[in-house]
Amino acid sequence: MRNTLLIGAQWGDEGKGKVVDFLSQDADVVVRYQGGSNAGHTIEIGAERYVLHLVPSGILYPGKTCVIGNGLVIDPAALVKEIKELNERGINTTGRLHISDRAHAVIPYHKALDAARENKLTAAAKIGTTQRGIGPAYADKVNRTGVRMGDLTDSNLAVTLTARLAEKNEQLALLGAPTLDAAAVIAEVQQAAEFLKPYITDTVKLLNDAYKAKKSVLFEGAQGTMLDIDFGTYPFVTSSNPTSGGACVGTGLPPHAVERVLGVIKAYTTRVGGGPFPTELLDDVGEGLRKRGREFGATTGRPRRCGWFDAVVARYSAMVNGVDHWAITKLDVMDEMETIKVCVAYECDGKRYDTVPASISILERCKPVYKEYPGWMTPTSGITRYEDLPAKAKAYVQALCDVSGVPLGVLSVSPQRSSTFRIAV
Ligand code: IMP
Repeated sequence: MRNTLLIGAQWGDEGKGKVVDFLSQDADVVVRYQGGSNAGHTIEIGAERYVLHLVPSGILYPGKTCVIGNGLVIDPAALVKEIKELNERGINTTGRLHISDRAHAVIPYHKALDAARENKLTAAAKIGTTQRGIGPAYADKVNRTGVRMGDLTDSNLAVTLTARLAEKNEQLALLGAPTLDAAAVIAEVQQAAEFLKPYITDTVKLLNDAYKAKKSVLFEGAQGTMLDIDFGTYPFVTSSNPTSGGACVGTGLPPHAVERVLGVIKAYTTRVGGGPFPTELLDDVGEGLRKRGREFGATTGRPRRCGWFDAVVARYSAMVNGVDHWAITKLDVMDEMETIKVCVAYECDGKRYDTVPASISILERCKPVYKEYPGWMTPTSGITRYEDLPAKAKAYVQALCDVSGVPLGVLSVSPQRSSTFRIAV
């Protein structure tokens, strides 16, 4: 397999876990490059259901090397829990899972600050973060006050954490939130660090050695383009770069190591948390999508906001990420729709927009311009061959590709591994 970078092209929750799982069978190494345990990648294999937050989805295939890259922020306690759960379910991680010594640690004070800051915001300003400490941990990284995974077993860790905590407790007090006890924080981090120690290594060297040895690498993006700190609907975004540009800085592999980009899009659109969402459906149609698509957060359980497919977003994502092919997921969720709408452009103050405007106040006022397509009103979820799909379903998929200017690579019509069609990857 050519080295493939898989990115979310909407607001996350595109079904990346399933597509990564599908592609993992052909990869030697699967690497996560950004985000943290805000992600929740769901994979269903027969009756088994796995939700992975930090560990790359490739772990479910025996023998694959899995890397948590330097671009992540890792909650050590959450990672320990995830590894233990995998081990209890018979999945071996020893010698296969590697954690970057350059990745940053999410310390309990990051989570406390994340929650305290959100609580202070007005309803309209709330980002609706996952409260996993992501923003504060990335802020410390940029502020040069972070703690890296490689430092967790340093003898002066307790001194560093005590100093940091004094400052963080001042901030928590200012926000009216309870302060944290240094001894408890240090104990939690040290305990997790002891467990994780054998996994922590120089993944930059490991990945580059694998690349030089012509091993195939699958880059597993988390979140989505519209949540990107630079290209998303700022400030209603996450604090990392889920877009393809993030893959190099988050792994230490050079740009030419990425040989193709696969963008994952759902046959409709969802978003969790606050912020503009031009095609949002606040009616029974949206409710139907939520129910049929089981649109509840894999990490937080929150109901996701649902809406029609937004081709403006898809085109923008294709441009920003250099998408070669789409992996379109959850087509079956549209099975019962008589008519399906696709947003082909926005209108605001009499002006037409064919790409996503940077201004949040414009985007908030943008009205979608829709094109309608006939539904197929037939179940597709049991279908195992692309050719057997109803003609109208294939026409809808083709329309999504045409309006966004990207050919189809993979199509999925149910959460199961078996109902994934490989078209051109
Ligand atoms: P944070 O990443 O927890 O700081 O949350 C920032 C925004 O990104 C919020 O709107 C979250 O709901 C959203 N977000 C973060 N991770 C995911 C994800 O994996 N899927 C969908 N939305 C996410």
